[in-house]
Amino acid sequence: MMATRAQQRTDRAEPVRSGEQGRDFEFTSADFTRIRELIHSSAGISLSDHKRDMAYSRLARRLRARGLDSFKQYLDLLEAENDPAEWEAFTNALTTNLTAFFREAHHFPILADFVPRRAQPVSVWCSAASTGEEPYSIAMTLIEALGETGARQATVLATDIDTQVLAKAEAGMYQFDQVKHLSPERLKRFFLKGTGAHAGMVKVRPQVRAMVRFEQLNLTDRDYQLRTQFDAIFCRNVMIYFDKPTQAQVLGRFEPLMKSGGLLFAGHSENFTYVTQAFKLRGQTVYELTRDAAGARAPARTAATSGVTV
Ligand SMILES: C[S@@+](CC[C@H](N)C(=O)[O-])C[C@H]1O[C@@H](n2cnc3c(N)ncnc32)[C@H](O)[C@@H]1O
Repeated sequence: MMATRAQQRTDRAEPVRSGEQGRDFEFTSADFTRIRELIHSSAGISLSDHKRDMAYSRLARRLRARGLDSFKQYLDLLEAENDPAEWEAFTNALTTNLTAFFREAHHFPILADFVPRRAQPVSVWCSAASTGEEPYSIAMTLIEALGETGARQATVLATDIDTQVLAKAEAGMYQFDQVKHLSPERLKRFFLKGTGAHAGMVKVRPQVRAMVRFEQLNLTDRDYQLRTQFDAIFCRNVMIYFDKPTQAQVLGRFEPLMKSGGLLFAGHSENFTYVTQAFKLRGQTVYELTRDAAGARAPARTAATSGVTV
């Protein structure tokens, strides 16, 4: 949409007021608008107004690292130079990576019940893996459900756009505080306790680590370059950052990557019912692919079959 001249003038001139005191760099509305456009086009992330301060503080570090004086200079540089490392740093700075082991715990018994009934070996894709707690929770659930031997063949692909969180995930080291809510059985079976310099830390045991492959993947890419199909896809707490058209595109790309009867796990505030007909709601934020084994799509849901009153 075209901005009016008055809007453009305001955008260019007006520094952000909230929390401005003590800032090292001027941060105008135009700067924030540009940041929003750039992160939306590169990662699909829609930054809301209340993320202004966050954008300032995280990107101010990039300005300091590059020895720049203004956001305008930084954004000009980002757009002018095709510098993959700076784009990576820009993206890493603006993602939100909150996660936890066995977060949204109701999903894991569903996965545990599902996988033994599937043709083996099973494969699961965790598509917004963040610092690794989620894909490791999936791998632990597969071990619990299939046994050590059965799970050895199983694979978990863990991807994220953010290379920094992926590096942390690959290391598999966490503060004890992050796992203290787990049962003593899980702690003993799946973690090693740090000693000496690593006191207060835990490390994911090698057999769990070996089941997970980490790769960078941007969910808004046209082609994910994945040549395999999955029994289950976890896509939790990332779609909330995408607008509806982006959500629909991502779900459209998931569809051919899912084995017949496969399950899609969504985050607690994510609802795909109105975005796609390819997946039907099976339980609390768990969706099932509607395509049958022959590849035909099940008939579109009507008001009567979907339980929706019109
Ligand atoms: C809030 S975390 C959710 C982590 C985990 N799925 C969970 O539910 O605990 C969102 C993750 O999505 C990732 N992300 C954001 N945009 C992405 C994109 N376009 N492609 C892939 N990952 C993305 C972020 O880097 C971040 O690690």
